[in-house]
Amino acid sequence: MIDPAEFLKFLKERRSIRSFQDKSIPDKEIEMILEAGRWTPSASHLQPWEFIVIKNKEILKKISKNAYYGEFIKEAPVAIAIVGKIRTSPKWYIIDTSLVSMNMTLMAWSLGIGTCWIGALNRGKVKTLLGLGGNDYLLTILPFGYIKGAIPEPKPRKSLNKIIRKM
Ligand SMILES: Cc1cc2nc3c(=O)[nH]c(=O)nc-3n(C[C@H](O)[C@H](O)[C@H](O)COP(=O)(O)O)c2cc1C
Repeated sequence: MIDPAEFLKFLKERRSIRSFQDKSIPDKEIEMILEAGRWTPSASHLQPWEFIVIKNKEILKKISKNAYYGEFIKEAPVAIAIVGKIRTSPKWYIIDTSLVSMNMTLMAWSLGIGTCWIGALNRGKVKTLLGLGGNDYLLTILPFGYIKGAIPEPKPRKSLNKIIRKM
């Protein structure tokens, strides 16, 4: 088990990273990120997902052109597209794959690797680039890389007393 205070500190220290060093990530570490995705819980244990590992710079450049706020994808040595399988779990594929994204993000952070959820995508074009079809929901493409420059300051969070209600 992880020390709870250390774990909370770890969660609070994570940041979205949008600038990456030009340095590849060892396959062993990419595998650990994929494993963290694979071990994500899912509704009825249906595992309605597929992960596409993208290292090809030309494809990354094309994706970045179709990301409205994610041009930095092209800087990353690797990106993982998280795809929800709609027919496998029509009610839960978005939630299940969102959890995958968080598991992968936290695994990466523990390895000193940064990422950022890219949500603003021209999904139609990127889906074609990735060879995805009608049963596939492209949730996000997470670019992974070693952090370039300073780790961003934390974005302020709403205070607990504003977001909790006790009964
Ligand atoms: C569903 C979702 C979509 C997001 N889409 C983008 C995006 O398209 N581009 C981007 O740069 N950041 C994106 N982000 C990152 C958020 O801006 C970021 O998580 C938020 O500002 C808090 O910062 P932090 O992650 O450093 O704590 C997204 C985050 C989430 C959860």
